[in-house]
Amino acid sequence: MSEWFETLPGLWTGLWDCLAEGVARRDAPARHVVLATVGLDGGPEARTVVLRGADADAGVIEVHTDLHSAKVAELRRDGRAAVVVWDGERRLQVRLSVAVTELQGDAAAAIWEQVPDPSRQSYGVVPAPGTPIAGALDYEKCADRATFAVLRCELRRVDLVHLGEVHRRAGFARAGGWAGRWLVP
Ligand SMILES: Cc1cc2nc3c(=O)[nH]c(=O)nc-3n(C[C@H](O)[C@H](O)[C@H](O)COP(=O)(O)O)c2cc1C
Repeated sequence: MSEWFETLPGLWTGLWDCLAEGVARRDAPARHVVLATVGLDGGPEARTVVLRGADADAGVIEVHTDLHSAKVAELRRDGRAAVVVWDGERRLQVRLSVAVTELQGDAAAAIWEQVPDPSRQSYGVVPAPGTPIAGALDYEKCADRATFAVLRCELRRVDLVHLGEVHRRAGFARAGGWAGRWLVP
C-alpha cells in the first residue's frame, strides 16, 4: 500500500484535503494562506488571508475581503494571482495559480448572510484600508455588506512539493484536465 504522496492522484487528494481543512478548522495550516497579486505599479504584492471556501469539483477557492482594499483594485486591473500554503502536518507546499473574479452586492448577499457577526467587522472600515491616518486608532470599523467582496479564485495551475525522506514535486493544469506530471523538486 503506497502513501498518499507517492502517487499523482494521492497528491491531488492531499491538496483538496489540505484546503478543505483550512476552511473547516481555525487551527489548520491552510486556514491562513498567502495571496499574491500584481501591484498597480506592476510589482508583486502579497498578504495573508483566511481561506473561506474550497470546491474540489469546480477547482475553486474563496477569500473574503473589503471592496475598498488595494488587492481588489489590483485584481480588477489584472485578475491573475497566486496562493501559497505550507502544510507542515502533511509536509506539503501548495502553490496555486488562479484567475480571480469578484462577487459583490447581490451576488455576494447569500454568502454575507453566513458570515458571523464578529467576522463582519472585517468588512467595512472608515476611512478605506491603507489610508494614512494621524494616530494608530483613527479609524472606525462598521460592518457593511456594501463593502463586502468574495474573491472567487479559479485554479489554473497547481504545483505541489512534498518533503519526505525523498522530495517529490508534481504539476497539475486545468488545461490538461488536471492530469498531473512529476517534476524535479
Ligand atoms: C491572520 C490574518 C488573516 C487575515 N485575513 C484576511 C482576510 O481574510 N481578508 C482580507 O481582506 N484581509 C485579511 N487580512 C489582512 C490582510 O493581510 C491585509 O493586511 C489587508 O487585507 C490589506 O491588504 P491589501 O492592502 O493588500 O489589500 C488578514 C491578516 C492576517 C494577519
